[in-house]
Amino acid sequence: MTGQQTALQAFRQQFGDSGDIRLFFAPGRVNLIGEHTDYNGGHVFPCAITLGTYAAARKRSDRKLRFFSANFPETGVRETSLDELNPLEKCGWIGYPKGVVWAFAERGCRLDRGFDMAIYGDIPNGSGLSSSASLEVLTGLVLRSLYGFEEITNQDLALIGQKSENEYNGMHCGIMDQFASAMGMENHAIFLDCSTLQYTYAPIELQGMKLQVTNTNKKHSLVDSEYNLRREQCAEALKDLQQELPVHALGELSIEQYETYKSLIRDEVCRRRAKHAVYENQRTIQAVEALQARDLQKFGRLMNESHVSLRDDYETSCPEADILAEEAWKIPGVIGSRITGGGFGGCTVSIVRDEAVEEFISTLSGIYREKVGFDASFYSLGIGGGPREITET
Ligand code: GLA
Repeated sequence: MTGQQTALQAFRQQFGDSGDIRLFFAPGRVNLIGEHTDYNGGHVFPCAITLGTYAAARKRSDRKLRFFSANFPETGVRETSLDELNPLEKCGWIGYPKGVVWAFAERGCRLDRGFDMAIYGDIPNGSGLSSSASLEVLTGLVLRSLYGFEEITNQDLALIGQKSENEYNGMHCGIMDQFASAMGMENHAIFLDCSTLQYTYAPIELQGMKLQVTNTNKKHSLVDSEYNLRREQCAEALKDLQQELPVHALGELSIEQYETYKSLIRDEVCRRRAKHAVYENQRTIQAVEALQARDLQKFGRLMNESHVSLRDDYETSCPEADILAEEAWKIPGVIGSRITGGGFGGCTVSIVRDEAVEEFISTLSGIYREKVGFDASFYSLGIGGGPREITET
């Protein structure tokens, strides 16, 4: 059964078959380079993937909100209402759709009636491929479509998703994940300047190569608190730099400026965090230039440098992802490999020549099992389009 069929079947089973049931999809994302730069006013280079979250949804005539996830059938139908939207409440996965309903209302887009929604996602859980951002963008699309909020653009869906995640769910993420999901374009990555939200699409033509995503399958906790801590450390570094430099964000600094003024940052840990933010932003700009010049080798080298920086300076990698990236670097035919996403687990992203893919998978899976004690998972991902209503079944 396809993802959309699973969502539709779950909807019919839980909520019945009558009325106007509509189907929607929003993608997850993988970031090629530019990690932890978004909330530092820097650049990112993610793409939407063909995996994502599907929803079947229907308006109700009362104020109830009912949610069902075919990924967590054991939790059954979760029922709440438009009068029970409480930021920072702890309510599990329904905090994501509820947060988006709340963020719509904050923008003046109030719902008069509730809705039923069944979802199914094919993004592996906890993989760092943005299942939560895809659910937020998806919910935004459902609301825009069912309630006729036509003035809401796809970029608004990204901003609404981020606001809901920040203020309703307490995760102080940047804009990258929601933007990649809401603005995705097939076979293109998005080069986004997070300080202005100006962006361009760059075609990803990997002739003779594959985009391999490898999941550490590491169950992580503390991600949100460690993530929020990184943000605070960057903010502290910026404050120290502002004693002498009139900048608004770490993303404004050149490498030369950072090196000249870094001694202003009093705390050694904050200094390393800032170093990553500044260098990673410059790496991202260079990587996109390299891609445009068809210098894939350089793109790959920058990916590897990004991993080292996340491992040593930003400390958001983990031993499992380090093994995957470092072992990948040794395989001829691997152009580049790095941890992708928020970190502390999740996936690596690698560019691998077609003829090396088999060796990549067999070598890494053997070493990983031996060193880590459980299996990594391997996916060859397609770069997909943005969120959409599905009219064909
Ligand atoms: C998470 C956040 C993003 C971004 C990445 C790191 O995915 O949601 O905003 O900061 O981490 O690049």
